[in-house]
Amino acid sequence: PAKYKIVMIRHGESEWNQKNLFCGWFDADLSDKGRQEAVAAGKALKAEGYQFDVAHTSVLKRAQITLNSILKEIGQPDIPIEKTWRLNERHYGGLTGLNKAETAAKYGEAQVQIWRRSFDVPPPAMEKDHPYYDTIVNDPRYAADPKPEEFPMYESLKLTIERTLPYWNNVIVPQIKEGKKIIIAAHGNSLRGIVKHLDDLSDAAIMELNLPTGIPFVYELDENLKPVDSMVFLGDEETVKKAMATVAAQGKAK
Ligand code: 3PG
Repeated sequence: PAKYKIVMIRHGESEWNQKNLFCGWFDADLSDKGRQEAVAAGKALKAEGYQFDVAHTSVLKRAQITLNSILKEIGQPDIPIEKTWRLNERHYGGLTGLNKAETAAKYGEAQVQIWRRSFDVPPPAMEKDHPYYDTIVNDPRYAADPKPEEFPMYESLKLTIERTLPYWNNVIVPQIKEGKKIIIAAHGNSLRGIVKHLDDLSDAAIMELNLPTGIPFVYELDENLKPVDSMVFLGDEETVKKAMATVAAQGKAK
């Protein structure tokens, strides 16, 4: 039987999602549509009576703004919010800032699919002369953490999971076991890592999962934190399916 419940959400559409750019650790803002998605997510949670004791998010504003908007809608703007780079989007390396469709036209859709969804093939590294290198590496929010030796210049999903899971295991799991009601507002690929772990998906199976922006989903877990109910979206099935297909199609050449 289910003992625990946890809610997760990928941030609403960002300005860079809208422009179809590889974003990763670039701190893109939400688009107007993304802001609306965040409010709608809050209303959906409110309609189902959700309340939380603690929230976890990344250090990137698209996730934080989404979370704040949800907490405001459910009337809990003041609960503790824990922010960590370990929930950041995966670092898209040298692809950061490139248009996904143009990259597919240049390198082929198959290569872009490998870069976006393969489990362990990383994107090319972000080199020192990359237009966003300084913005990201010298961002004061990373002054203490991650340490220089763990600061990524690129990440595959595998590498993303290796830095996200310690946070899941060491910070979130103990809170779940204390009975805290938790919401995580994060990113497509950091959440895919958590989903892969919870549902014990194979490296091949996780390639097929495209998380939509701004739609909350719920896991019900048994006492051993094994899912009793996996990834139940608070949204109608057709809308969720379409939103997932839209994300998948971002890697098509126009
Ligand atoms: C990004 O970082 O560009 C996206 O928000 C996630 O991208 P993906 O769906 O191409 O992995």
